Amino acid sequence: MAKDTASATQKQSFEEFCHQAFDPTKEFSKPEALKGVRVLSCTQYILGPSCASYLAELGAEVIKIEAPRRGEAMRHTTPFNEPFLYPLSRWVPERGTGLGFLGANPNEYFISVDFHRPEGQAIVKKLAAKSDVMVENYRPGTFDRWGIGYRQMKEINPRLVYCWLGGFGGWGPGRVRASYDILGQSQGGNFGMTGKQEFLGGAPSKHTIWLADYWGGMMGAVQILAALYWRDKVSGEGTFTEYSQVHGVTRQLEYALPLYGRHGITRQRWGNWDTQLCVHGIIKCGKSSYPGSENPQESEEGYILISAYTDEDFARLCKVVGDVKMAEKYAKTENRVKAQSQMEIYPWLEKWAADKTKEQVAEIMDKANINNQPVWNAKEVANHPHWVQRGAVRWLDDPTFGELLHQGPAYKMSATPPRLKWALKPVGADNELILGKLAGLSTEELRRLEEQECI
Ligand SMILES: CC(C)(COP(=O)(O)OP(=O)(O)OC[C@H]1O[C@@H](n2cnc3c(N)ncnc32)[C@H](O)[C@@H]1OP(=O)(O)O)[C@@H](O)C(=O)NCCC(=O)NCCS
Repeated sequence: MAKDTASATQKQSFEEFCHQAFDPTKEFSKPEALKGVRVLSCTQYILGPSCASYLAELGAEVIKIEAPRRGEAMRHTTPFNEPFLYPLSRWVPERGTGLGFLGANPNEYFISVDFHRPEGQAIVKKLAAKSDVMVENYRPGTFDRWGIGYRQMKEINPRLVYCWLGGFGGWGPGRVRASYDILGQSQGGNFGMTGKQEFLGGAPSKHTIWLADYWGGMMGAVQILAALYWRDKVSGEGTFTEYSQVHGVTRQLEYALPLYGRHGITRQRWGNWDTQLCVHGIIKCGKSSYPGSENPQESEEGYILISAYTDEDFARLCKVVGDVKMAEKYAKTENRVKAQSQMEIYPWLEKWAADKTKEQVAEIMDKANINNQPVWNAKEVANHPHWVQRGAVRWLDDPTFGELLHQGPAYKMSATPPRLKWALKPVGADNELILGKLAGLSTEELRRLEEQECI
C-alpha cells in the first residue's frame, strides 16, 4: 500500500495533485463542511453579513432576516439600485438593490421579519430554538431591548452560539456610538499609517474597499467556529461572543504598538513606499497601457510595485537602470532605508520608467529576476487566465438574476470545498420556504403577516 502511494506520488506532479484536489469544476460533487449547521443572520451593512456569508460558503444554512419589504440598509446605501438589475422585493417593484449588497450575502435564504412586533419576535424565537448560531450587528443592546438578544435566546436554546459584532464592544465608556468601517479604521489606528507624509503632499488615506468590515466578518466566523467546537466537543453549551470593529483594526497594527511601547516611536505614514525596506514600493510608469481608453483609470499612467530590498537585488536593479553611481551610493540596506535616501531612490526609478508602460517595466524586471507586479484594476483581475482557471473569478449562473461575474470563495478545501451557489435574492424571497418549514406558519398565516408587514 505504502509502495503504491509512493509510486502515485512520483507519477503525479505537485501541480497536478493540487489541480485535482482543488478543481473548481468538482466543487458541487463533494460534501460541505458546515452542512447541518443553521445560522440566523440578523445583519446589516457589511460587517455582520460577511460574517454569516463566510459560513454559508462552507455549507451552513444561513437564514438572513431583514425588515419587511424594504430589507436591510445596505440595499439602499449604494448606487446602481435600478430595479431591472437586482429587484428589491415583490412589494417594492420600483426599487432595486444597491451594488454594495453584492459580495456580502451569497448562498443565503432571505426572509423578512419586523423585530419590533411581538408576532415578529415570536417568529425569531421559534427560529432561534432550531438554530445553532445567531449573528447580529446592531447597536449594543438593541436585540436585548427587543427581547430577542442572547440573554433571552439562551433560555430558549442553551446550545445557541450568539455572535454580536459591533463598533466598540458591549461595555466600557466608549460603547454607545454608531460605528462603520471607516470609523473602525480611523479609531483603530489604520488611517494614522496609510497615506503619504504631509511634506510629500499627502494626508491620511482611507482604503477604497471596506477592509475592516470584510476582515471583521472573517474574525466573527472564526469566533463562531471555535464556539461550535467548544459546544460540540467540550461543554455541550452555546456561548455569547463579541467582536469590536475598532479593536479588530488595532489587532492588525503589526509592530506599531510594541514600537511605541518600548521606544516611544509613533509609526508614520509612508505612502506607497516602506519604512523598513527599500526598494519595496509602488512607482509610476510614464506611459499608459490603454492610451485610447475613455476609462480615466486606464488612460492614466500605469503603476507597478518593485521589490528589490536586499543588497543583491538592489545591485541588479541598478544594473537594469544602468546607474553605477546609485549602486555604489546605496549599496547597503541601512543607507537605502533612510527617509532622505528613499526620497532620492523612488523619483530616480520613476524617471527611468517615464517612457515605459507598466508591462514594459514588468518585462524588464522579470528578465533581471526582480520581483514586480503591475498594479491591476478589476478588469485586469477579471481577465487573468490564472485566476479564471482557479475559479477565483467566475461566471455564476445565478438562479434569480442569471449570469453574474463574481469572486469565488477565497480559499480551497480538497474534501469539503467552499462554493458559490447564488449571489443574492430579493427581500423575503424565502418567506414561504423557511417560515413554513421552521416556524410552522400556514399559507394563510403567511399571507396575513405579509399584508400586515410583520414579515
Ligand atoms: C450600523 C449602525 C450605526 C446603525 O445604527 P442604528 O440604525 O441607529 O441602530 P441599530 O443598529 O440598533 O438599529 C435599530 C434600528 O434598526 C431598524 N431595523 C432594521 N431592521 C429591522 C427589522 N427587521 N425590524 C425592525 N426594525 C429594524 C429599526 O428602525 C431600528 O430602530 P428603532 O429601534 O429605533 O426602531 C449600528 O447598528 C452599529 O453601530 N452597528 C455596529 C457596527 C456595524 O456593524 N456597523 C455597520 C458595518 S460598517
